[in-house]
Amino acid sequence: MCEILSNLWRWLCLMPKNETPTSDDDDPNYKTFPHVKKQIESDSIDISDHHVEPISFSSGSTNTEDNIHTSTSHIVVDLSSGCAEDAKTTNAKGKEQPVIDIDCGNQELIPEVVFEEIVTPLISVRRIGPYTSAQRILLVGEGDFSFSASLAVAFGASAANITATSLNTKKYLIKNYGQFVTNKAELETRCSTVLHGVDVTKMLRHPVLGSMVFDRIIFNFPHALNCVATYTKPLPHQKLIREFLLNAKEMIGEGGEIHITSKSNGVYLEWDIPKIGSVIGIKLIQQVKFKRSKYPGYSPKYACDDEDFDCNPSKTYKFGKVTLFR
Ligand SMILES: C[S@@+](CC[C@H](N)C(=O)[O-])C[C@H]1O[C@@H](n2cnc3c(N)ncnc32)[C@H](O)[C@@H]1O
Repeated sequence: MCEILSNLWRWLCLMPKNETPTSDDDDPNYKTFPHVKKQIESDSIDISDHHVEPISFSSGSTNTEDNIHTSTSHIVVDLSSGCAEDAKTTNAKGKEQPVIDIDCGNQELIPEVVFEEIVTPLISVRRIGPYTSAQRILLVGEGDFSFSASLAVAFGASAANITATSLNTKKYLIKNYGQFVTNKAELETRCSTVLHGVDVTKMLRHPVLGSMVFDRIIFNFPHALNCVATYTKPLPHQKLIREFLLNAKEMIGEGGEIHITSKSNGVYLEWDIPKIGSVIGIKLIQQVKFKRSKYPGYSPKYACDDEDFDCNPSKTYKFGKVTLFR
């Protein structure tokens, strides 16, 4: 079941398929997609590269719950192109509503596969903080994965919409964080994808993530890594955040958001996260107070040991793409 769910979510996250990635000379685990290179180099925003629209369960409404329980889904999937065409739901009154709209471009014709009974019983939307089980969510820079696990548990039996990642290796995390194994199990039993060795400064070229699009990308308490001594100057942290944002802005779909949570006092204010966003051409949508208590089980961790740190006061900065055309 996990495999079906993960593949379905992976498919919903697919980026344009008509590009051949090339290997990165620095690191064979990372690949370069031509459209990515072009955008990173120019710092420009090209919203036309993303073909996957967020799922819309009802016309003109963002509250999906009421509609979902009375709907039957009927998604026609063109497997060889990875595109769904004419995907619709039918609500209780028998009225057809569009669900997924993917621009397939010129691709070969294929046999159709109908996912019918599989999809219907799995759709029920759950919420925690600003996050829902209907969003394609990428978490990066995780410590002991307690934040990802908190979201997954809140989403119920299935959290296949979550992709949770860390820079550190699995071996390091097992050794460093007492709750890591338990948190990872909470994620995997709910069909979330867990990846290690993901560097946010080059995640666009990651062999799995590089071809995916997300509705929310979350980095909690980014901190440039140095386990010997903490960097006191803002520059290394600003550089990390800048490079993260440059990658992340190419990985969100229309209406997608990038969330960075960071301390909002003392030296952390010198990082000036809103300014980093504006310099690279993304829009600060909102900054809100972050409340750890909203996320049961979440323990914000230092990068190099299992100590919790005091994350009060903190803010979440929410960024989105600048909309060029309406
Ligand atoms: C203060 S810890 C916060 C950990 C976790 N996000 C939390 O809230 O508990 C900073 C995290 O940033 C991660 N990090 C630093 N540089 C990174 C990079 N280039 N790519 C991905 N993660 C990075 C570290 O591995 C560490 O887990």
